Amino acid sequence: MKEEKRGFSSKGFSDKGFSTRAVHSGEIRNNQFGSITTPIVQCSTFIFKNTEEIEKLAEGVAGRYEYSRYGHPTQFAAEEKLAALEETEDAVLFSSGMSAITTTLFSLLNSGDHIIITDDAYKRTLDFCKKYLFRFNIDCTIVKMCDYEAIENAIRPNTKVFFSESPTNPYLNIMDLDRLVGIFKGKDILIISDSTFATPFNQKPLEFGIDLVIHSATKYLGGHNDLLSGVVLGKKELTQPIRDYLKVTGGVIDPHCSYLLLRGLKTFELRMLRHNETAMTVAKHLENHPKIKRVYYPGLPSHPHYDVAQRQMKGFGGVITFEVEENISYALEFLSRLKMLSIGPSLGGVESLITHPATISYYDYTREARLEQGIKDGLVRLAVGIENAEDIIADIDQALL
Ligand SMILES: Cc1ncc(COP(=O)(O)O)c(C=O)c1O
Repeated sequence: MKEEKRGFSSKGFSDKGFSTRAVHSGEIRNNQFGSITTPIVQCSTFIFKNTEEIEKLAEGVAGRYEYSRYGHPTQFAAEEKLAALEETEDAVLFSSGMSAITTTLFSLLNSGDHIIITDDAYKRTLDFCKKYLFRFNIDCTIVKMCDYEAIENAIRPNTKVFFSESPTNPYLNIMDLDRLVGIFKGKDILIISDSTFATPFNQKPLEFGIDLVIHSATKYLGGHNDLLSGVVLGKKELTQPIRDYLKVTGGVIDPHCSYLLLRGLKTFELRMLRHNETAMTVAKHLENHPKIKRVYYPGLPSHPHYDVAQRQMKGFGGVITFEVEENISYALEFLSRLKMLSIGPSLGGVESLITHPATISYYDYTREARLEQGIKDGLVRLAVGIENAEDIIADIDQALL
């Protein structure tokens, strides 16, 4: 497999702080215009000045590109920044989080293989495993999140991948990564963690021995509710085959989106500190609110996985889930009365978003199937943005009649 070579001038930040890396790593500062920002190289094809340049491409010479589906400068700059933040060798960017997940799994699994996935993984990831992988003769076992015995018992001789998330949606369950890695020690099974809700600021799964980390970069990494992207990160020997597979499947990130990601990442630490702090303030307030039955936030001692979260996370992110009256109409009326908080299904952006999973994410489920997934009628998920905590609290309070 040919080693890909890049041509960046802003290397050498590996020993620097998180925000220094967020601002400088990956940026192409030796560009012909002397611009401090990385240029958006908006093109599909890269021309050869002469035939010698074609040879350079074959040799993998730094800075020589061919066709944007195989990679382009703005994408590589964003990948370098993300790898620096996750503190790993390589990052591969995709056109969405789901493209990152499906391309990664297709690249790793073969006919006859088996995958284990936890039951509260992102709905579409579960859909992919349940509804589509079997077409390729790939077997899937769904195990209960945090049931370590069930995870161990699910392992078969043909198991190739274990996939889970932490924290999960919507209850913010936290996988004990030390314990998980212990189960798979010495086994030839890749452990993949979708760490979208944690981000590389709050949790570093690779440090625990997880093999590959995936993020929907649409969320906190982009951070502004204005792009779709996904990323897989880890050692190059693991990411290179996925990158090669992406060249065939084609779910690549475009140059403009790569730039938006580079731009958003520069303020990543500032935003995460704010998400963590504001969400903690709001969660504490909600826990004491007479109209709220229960709050799920891993930073609160009432959360079932508080101790694990304290051990392995630096902060607990912006998502808070809570239960209002167990009644769909009450929950929907509450959402309708909100004045500042917008109703919407995503998270991780500067604007707070609130959603009612039963009617928004699970509209295509029967009530029974939805309840089986733990999606109750009165469940509400709040993705805290970077607005002032007192304004978020005031909006919720006036809507909770
Ligand atoms: C945990 C998690 N993983 C993956 C995805 C898919 O990401 P995208 O929407 O960028 O395809 C999502 C989307 O909500 C998510 O929440």
